[in-house]
Amino acid sequence: MRKMSVYPEQVVANASELAVGEVKLFTYPEPKDICILIRTTADNFVAYSQKCTHLSCPVYYSSKTKNLECPCHQGAFSAQTGDVLYGPPKRPLPKIELERRGDELVATAVKAGLE
Ligand code: FES
Repeated sequence: MRKMSVYPEQVVANASELAVGEVKLFTYPEPKDICILIRTTADNFVAYSQKCTHLSCPVYYSSKTKNLECPCHQGAFSAQTGDVLYGPPKRPLPKIELERRGDELVATAVKAGLE
């Protein structure tokens, strides 16, 4: 089960900054917590911790597979849910809860834990 942890809200991007398939890195909830925001379609934005749940390498978004991939040991996560698709990671990527307010994308919480 995934646990929701609520943190102070933070504007992480403007929707109009990103074209479909583009990504932006930001930090949330602490300045050391690097996250990746992806515009998957015109109307859908998702964000996750960028830290692989295996051994903490940074994941990247593959526009070819449309998955989040980890180059260290070929792990992969769904860009839709953060769930593990294959490779050594056992836990999904922590998901950053986003709310869209006009053009602003606001982070409100982190959902993390076991599948
Ligand atoms: S650190 Fe990501 S698969 Fe090992």
